[in-house]
Amino acid sequence: MTRKILLTAALPYANGAIHLGHLVEYIQTDIWTRFQKMRGHECWFVCADDTHGTPIMLRAEKEGITPEQLIERVHAEHSRDFAGFHVAFDNYYTTHSDETRHYSEDIFTKLKAAGLIEIRSIEQYYDPVKQMFLPDRFIKGECPKCGTKDQYGDACESCGAAYAPTDLKNPYSAVSGAQPVLKSSDHYFFKLSDPRCQDFLRQWTQQEERLQPEAANKLQEWLGAPGENKLTDWDISRDAPYFGFEIPGAPGKFFYVWLDAPIGYMGSFKNFCDRKGLDFDEFWGKDSKAELYHFIGKDILYFHALFWPAELAHAGYRTPTKVFAHGFLTVDGAKMSKSRGTFITAESYLTQGLNPEWLRYYFAAKLNGSMEDIDLNLEDFTQRVNSDLIGKYINIASRAAGFIAKRFDGKLQREHVIARFKAELPGLMEAADEIAGYYEGRDTARALRRVMALADQINQYVDRNQPWVLAKQEGQDAKLHEVCTLLINAFRLLTIYLKPVLPKLAQRAEEFLNVAPLHWADAGHLLPISHPINPYEHLMQRIDAKQIDALIAANRESLEPTAVAPAPSPGIPLRVTPEPHSPQRHAQHQQATEDKVQAQTSPVEPAISIDDFSKVDLRIARIADAQHVEGADKLIRLTLDLGEGDTRNVFAGIKSAYDPAQLVGRLTVMVANLAPRKMKFGLSEGMVLAASDTDGKSPGLFLLSPDSGAQPGMRVK
Ligand code: 2FM
Ligand code: ZN
Repeated sequence: MTRKILLTAALPYANGAIHLGHLVEYIQTDIWTRFQKMRGHECWFVCADDTHGTPIMLRAEKEGITPEQLIERVHAEHSRDFAGFHVAFDNYYTTHSDETRHYSEDIFTKLKAAGLIEIRSIEQYYDPVKQMFLPDRFIKGECPKCGTKDQYGDACESCGAAYAPTDLKNPYSAVSGAQPVLKSSDHYFFKLSDPRCQDFLRQWTQQEERLQPEAANKLQEWLGAPGENKLTDWDISRDAPYFGFEIPGAPGKFFYVWLDAPIGYMGSFKNFCDRKGLDFDEFWGKDSKAELYHFIGKDILYFHALFWPAELAHAGYRTPTKVFAHGFLTVDGAKMSKSRGTFITAESYLTQGLNPEWLRYYFAAKLNGSMEDIDLNLEDFTQRVNSDLIGKYINIASRAAGFIAKRFDGKLQREHVIARFKAELPGLMEAADEIAGYYEGRDTARALRRVMALADQINQYVDRNQPWVLAKQEGQDAKLHEVCTLLINAFRLLTIYLKPVLPKLAQRAEEFLNVAPLHWADAGHLLPISHPINPYEHLMQRIDAKQIDALIAANRESLEPTAVAPAPSPGIPLRVTPEPHSPQRHAQHQQATEDKVQAQTSPVEPAISIDDFSKVDLRIARIADAQHVEGADKLIRLTLDLGEGDTRNVFAGIKSAYDPAQLVGRLTVMVANLAPRKMKFGLSEGMVLAASDTDGKSPGLFLLSPDSGAQPGMRVK
């Protein structure tokens, strides 16, 4: 029976690069999609960029472009990265679309008609300088529990405490550095606490296999014991300024992420249906018989297993058949880290020339359908790919192909070999159903273990028969032909079993085997007699450990600044806008070091006129915020207040001498008219002045301060 299946993977935010952590999910979903397609089912995989929200609005503003321009650029980058890893969406769309707007409005209107939307006035932190309400992540301050400075408004990264932004001590806006004020405004809420939602969810979440067992347990916990009402209403609106969809009939109010991001699944599919002539309602209508699966990370289970089905059910749509959550990715046993170089972007992996199928294979070998975290152990990665794919799988083809080409005119045996095949390699054809079962259950780890056990069995057959010995013996031609024919057939079967994981490699194998694209059902027969194959060309390179070292170095380098160019002599401004690292940059750094040596012997620069000096606009600035820059050894990010709402973001190479916490609130001097510079970490809009000793090293680094009485914005002459 042909199944109708619609698959989604979580929509990535349109303000950041795709990294290996993201790829776990897209690769997992892509493997499942490819498997279902190989089984002959009607299966569609849709996704989109999640384009709305405050961070996207602010990022565009920072870059000096419109949000539309930002999301268009990021869409192209994301599409490129996904294609590079062979993630084959049937549609990769955007939530900033007419289709998503239509369904957002439609669902909202229906929920409202059902009495499940409520307006309530709530008090929230407001940035009086930037004139906007601040999302939790844009409010920082001291943790109310442990006192650690510079913690976000929702949770402490030091002690793990979760709290409300209003609990923070000494809060400040991460946007402008201003002290936020509490302000009320009307918000729209989805009434998840309504008995209708509670009853529906209690039943829905416990239905057979709707969720993985560990997810179902989590849901029980969130729902509470029968009779308990633990669900809270969900705030679904945000106030202008916001980049998103305005709520119908509510000027200045916008749908918050969960009232448009998952609806982007529908928007993307609707767009696809319209282009393909498919019937949207067949998949999303209330009585749809199609299967709908959402692949997600465990961090968004709450939204997909509570909020989303409740929203759909009460707006008259079908609910997901199942939600599949996966764990997080660690690299070498630790959280991905920019400073260690393990925060690896998809783009850097590809531009470093690593084969995307190595990673697909490794992730698949680790994923077992549970919510456990998976670890990318780089040594194991190298070893496993080389041993399994090159040592075991590819090896089978390379050992047989040469003899077929040279000795048998490129053709397989003239007699049927099925009986011999089954006798010599028992279970190889029959394993198809078992392996399919593992794929169906998303236990790709088990599927690949089974495939590699079969590869071992085939390699033992090679060792038993030693075709290279047969080739040298008189009168063994028929035997040699048979052994090689069996091996080519065995290789073809393994190719079928590996194809969902390794689509490009399988395609090259199909060319070598001279066969049409392989389907799962093709495992039920062997190649025809006298089948001609093509000359063998090496199918995959081994991983060289040096490539991994280079990848880590590239990710580390691309994020670390070159040392701040040292001040040539005491009292001369310190450059605070180093360029991102690059080979050229490296050369420049060397040059700077050499210049410094010269500077020690030439204390004062050539004379300039007063007019030259007055071109430099020096101002008093108040350090409204100072933060470490993740991945940068030398930089501190300063938010400088020049008064009258003029705030600047400046990266200063002063980390060796100052703790950011010490700096907040003090006055200093900045160059206010230095052309802004785009850096890896963001835009640097000026430079602070510091004195330094000749080598620019700690502790000889002294930030300038004015005498008391100076005010932010005053000119220094
Ligand atoms: O958590 C996230 O990454 C959001 N961009 C939402 C993704 S899932 C969905 F519902 F769109
Ligand atoms: Zn804390």
